[in-house]
Amino acid sequence: MSEAAVITRPPASETGYSSRGSVLIIDDEAAIRESLETLLQLEGYAVECAAGGEEGLARIAERSFDLVLLDVALPDRDGIDLLAEIHHQDPQLVVIMITAYGTVENAVRAMQAGATNFVQKPWDNEKLLADVRTAIGRRRAEEENIQLKRALKQRYNFENIVGKSEPMLRIFDLVGHVAASRSTILLQGESGTGKELIAKAIHLNSSRRDRPFVAVNTGSTPPDLLESTLFGHIKGAFTSAIASKKGLFEIADHGTLFLDEIGTMSLDTQSKILRVLQDRKFMHLGGVHEVQVDVRIIAATNADLKQQVKEGKFREDLFYRLNVITIDLPPLRQRKEDIPLLAAFFLKKYSKENNRPPASLTPEALRPLLAYSWPGNVRELENAIERAVVLSTGPEISPELLPDPIVGRAAAFPPLEHRRDASLFDIMEDCERHIIVDMLEKCGWNQTEAAERFRIPLSTLNQKIKRLNIEIKRKGRE
Ligand SMILES: Nc1ncnc2c1ncn2[C@@H]1O[C@H](COP(=O)(O)OP(=O)(O)OP(=O)(O)O)[C@@H](O)[C@H]1O
Ligand SMILES: [Mg+2]
Repeated sequence: MSEAAVITRPPASETGYSSRGSVLIIDDEAAIRESLETLLQLEGYAVECAAGGEEGLARIAERSFDLVLLDVALPDRDGIDLLAEIHHQDPQLVVIMITAYGTVENAVRAMQAGATNFVQKPWDNEKLLADVRTAIGRRRAEEENIQLKRALKQRYNFENIVGKSEPMLRIFDLVGHVAASRSTILLQGESGTGKELIAKAIHLNSSRRDRPFVAVNTGSTPPDLLESTLFGHIKGAFTSAIASKKGLFEIADHGTLFLDEIGTMSLDTQSKILRVLQDRKFMHLGGVHEVQVDVRIIAATNADLKQQVKEGKFREDLFYRLNVITIDLPPLRQRKEDIPLLAAFFLKKYSKENNRPPASLTPEALRPLLAYSWPGNVRELENAIERAVVLSTGPEISPELLPDPIVGRAAAFPPLEHRRDASLFDIMEDCERHIIVDMLEKCGWNQTEAAERFRIPLSTLNQKIKRLNIEIKRKGRE
């Protein structure tokens, strides 16, 4: 099912957005810039101008354009060198060179250097517009082609979800059923259970598969930045908004937007997201016009959203909006029959990646894998197998190649016989410290993640860290 999108956009001249395309003019002569700008704007293009090479490069670094009109003879830079630098920044960017009348050598040099075309001053308006139209059309077709290829590759990778346990088979079934609709989906599960993998599978099994799948970590992005990332902004919306930028809702138009770690989003952003979920309409930051998009939303969380609603940390109305279809990814310890299958899958993957003959587990190595509780779930298993393959010297993976906690080796904990002078309380504290440090290490010293995995409030974990004098080594990973 493919719904037609109604995109209500303000005039290009106002915001810099235009469905016809965006053009950057780099020319040192103000009169040339102005007349080209007017000509293109009247045709509906979004136009920006730069008076020199350096300024032009800065613009291209800030945002993407469909086409650049570049003067060969600039006072600060040689146009041909600049062309090479532009292509270094954006290899697909179409550049039409502007040359002075009669300098054929320049035109030839420009084409050799990778310009798509050139126009001679004084130019013919109709011809110039036709060249711009053709060049932008070609760029868009190329982009679509790249996207299509990427999607095909991903579709091939869809085979890469492994599982034969009852709950996983039910999930595969559910994915097949819900993929075709536009319903919002909420994926819940502990860290590393495969939420993002399932989100991609839903997208690739839907009619949106050739359109973008855009993922955003709503939990780790600061609220202000998150809003401009999601909704885009117009030039001048805030001090650093020197150019208009599209938001991810627009980039994901006709595709899927994956809102990851939704449980830690600020209440303010939650209310804005709620509005988009209701009618798929929003405004650019600093904008005055509504934009309508056709986006499928998949949200993921490893937090207990219902509990967060009770605690007033998550909006109840947003929870119900998101909770249309919920898929619960069970922790790996509750589907142990998947472990041998996953292990074999990762052994094959990492043997191949490391140019090794296919490796296999000895029965002694499989035993601890089945007994272990896997707080980091499939990701932890994947990492353990990758490490074992890299450390192995032959095709067999024996228990020595597995990480300490998995094979039950208490790596850093001092044996009790060395602690004769310590009371039981001291030993218990040491034990607690050891377990907490171990988990923090696993979570890249991200306290929020560690608290979630321990299933205790963050404040409790922080109290323990303080009481046990645990030195926080690194900041939480992103
Ligand atoms: N069923 C599965 N089959 C094969 N690989 C899997 C499976 N589940 C997860 N993985 C792999 O495990 C890793 C973690 O998965 P993913 O990133 O989807 O988890 P997540 O639930 O989004 O984790 P987090 O909450 O930490 O973001 C990925 O490399 C993914 O490919
Ligand atoms: Mg994830």
